[in-house]
Amino acid sequence: MFRRVLAVTCAVSCALLAGLYGCSLKALGGRGLAIVYSNDVRGEFENCGCTDVQLGGLSRKAYLLRDAARKNTDMLHLDAGNLFFQKQPVQAIEAREFLLKAEYILKAYNAMGCDALNVTDGDLIMGLDALAGLRGKALFPFVSSNILARDGGRHLFEPVVFKKAAGISVAVLGLCPQDGVFMPDVRIEDPAVAVRKMAAAVRGKSDFLIVLSGLGLERDRELARQVPGINLIISARAERLLEKPVMENGTAIVQAYNRGQYLGSVEVARAGKGFSVDARLIALEPGIGEDKDIAAMGSDFKAQVAAMNQQAFFKGQLEKSGAGSGAAYIGGDSCVQCHVPQYENWQVTPHARAYQTLVQKGSQYAVECLVCHTTGYGEPGGYSPVDKESSMMINVQCEACHGPGSSHDGVKNGIVRDGARQVCLGCHTEKNSPRFDYDEYRPQVKCPVSGKKQIAGER
Ligand code: HEC
Ligand code: HEC
Ligand code: HEC
Ligand code: HEC
Repeated sequence: MFRRVLAVTCAVSCALLAGLYGCSLKALGGRGLAIVYSNDVRGEFENCGCTDVQLGGLSRKAYLLRDAARKNTDMLHLDAGNLFFQKQPVQAIEAREFLLKAEYILKAYNAMGCDALNVTDGDLIMGLDALAGLRGKALFPFVSSNILARDGGRHLFEPVVFKKAAGISVAVLGLCPQDGVFMPDVRIEDPAVAVRKMAAAVRGKSDFLIVLSGLGLERDRELARQVPGINLIISARAERLLEKPVMENGTAIVQAYNRGQYLGSVEVARAGKGFSVDARLIALEPGIGEDKDIAAMGSDFKAQVAAMNQQAFFKGQLEKSGAGSGAAYIGGDSCVQCHVPQYENWQVTPHARAYQTLVQKGSQYAVECLVCHTTGYGEPGGYSPVDKESSMMINVQCEACHGPGSSHDGVKNGIVRDGARQVCLGCHTEKNSPRFDYDEYRPQVKCPVSGKKQIAGER
């Protein structure tokens, strides 16, 4: 049925051409089935911007996808896996950040539309439950033909996804390598065995068989030799830039390098009794354009991380001062008895009316705003929209800068004197405070220093 790929036109990788911008997806489609794909995005939501020539970013990818989708409905968007996570997290703070980012990547994929995501070892790094949580929110299928429950052997994800586009019936399988996953409840079936079984099961129901594979190029070639009839393998675990598709036993194998730097595209057209496959890579370069919604998600993610990690910063500082990690927020009213000058000073800063600002906007119930316009949001003793008791934690109070005060008992212990820039950046993010300049902002809000330490004028 899926006999062989008759002709393969290996278009030159766009990256190799000069003046690359012309090479967008606009050229795609019209002549058949268009597949756009990624592999090994590995948590790269957007560029860090460390250099100005960086490739990649989901907002660029989404820009091209939306543009192309408008012009061509016969398009599939597939992902061969290793999508969500950069690496195994080392500390709890890293793990939380990775999970938060994964949520945002999922949101972005939901927004841009996806036809199937292969689950591979890199996506299981945070455990099956974490991935199941993401899958529960996904508007597209997670596919795996060889991840099975150890008990009973049922498939834990969709074993196959069927699609029809440009009059071609497509079956999409997914493979996870056996060497990357060690989970007590999970069995990874031999990939070749799994593909043989599934290929037999879909025979007659599809014309074109695609395998999304996490095995890596060498083992994908072996797979193509072992199991004839696979039309296309989209391969993850990329180690180098594969400029042209690899042909093996009638199967075309493609890969779009890593970290979402390139978008892969494959055009499939009927040719005689088989298909022709024309593959290219599109470098996601500066200047390509950005999807505004996805870019906004990226900024939103950064703000959330800042707020979240600020809390972790305080915990670390307080542990160093011997106060342990159990410190809770107690509210500025309990500081005033001992720190009158600081309290009076604070009262006239904008921080003391940050909540009122939300009320004026009618946003005092919006979690996304409360994170920065209240104190200790979501932390023990801090502001919580569902806890009436916490209403005294509105505004940016003392503990937003000095950390939770429950262990500070009238000595220096258990409080952070000056968290410096890092504390401010928790809320004064690029998006919410673009004009933030520490040296300019600090004198406007810092506390007066008592006794001899007091200096006339400002710091
Ligand atoms: C918990 C979040 C949070 C932290 C931490 C924080 N700020 Fe703010 N800051 C805000 C918010 C919210 C506003 C806006 C208040 C309003 O509604 O007017 C603000 C306003 C300001 C303003 C007034 C800006 C203007 O346009 O007039 C200055 C100055 C400022 N902050 C400096 C700092 C400095 C310096 C630090 C660190 C030492 C800091 N802030 C820490 C949330 C925070
Ligand atoms: C990541 C932290 C953060 C989040 C989230 C956030 N803000 Fe702010 N907001 C700030 C900071 C910091 C300032 C002060 C900016 C400056 O002047 O540099 C500010 C300032 C403002 C101001 C101007 C206040 C003034 O008096 O000039 C308004 C209005 C405001 N925020 C509303 C909102 C609303 C509404 C939301 C939710 C949609 C929100 N903020 C979410 C941190 C945040
Ligand atoms: C925007 C951040 C911020 C907020 C909000 C804030 N402080 Fe401070 N506070 C600072 C900074 C920065 C210093 C260090 C000043 C220095 O060393 O020059 C400081 C210093 C202090 C000191 C030490 C003073 C001394 O004599 O050594 C006390 C006490 C203090 N703050 C209490 C408070 C209290 C009480 C509140 C709430 C009513 C408060 N702070 C709100 C930033 C803040
Ligand atoms: C019972 C009195 C008392 C209360 C209540 C109190 N403090 Fe203090 N605080 C002190 C004393 C005493 C010092 C040490 C002063 C010194 O060394 O000059 C201090 C020091 C500090 C310092 C400076 C620490 C340093 O290392 O220099 C900060 C900041 C501070 N307090 C913030 C707060 C905040 C925020 C609250 C409310 C959550 C609070 N305090 C509640 C008595 C108190």
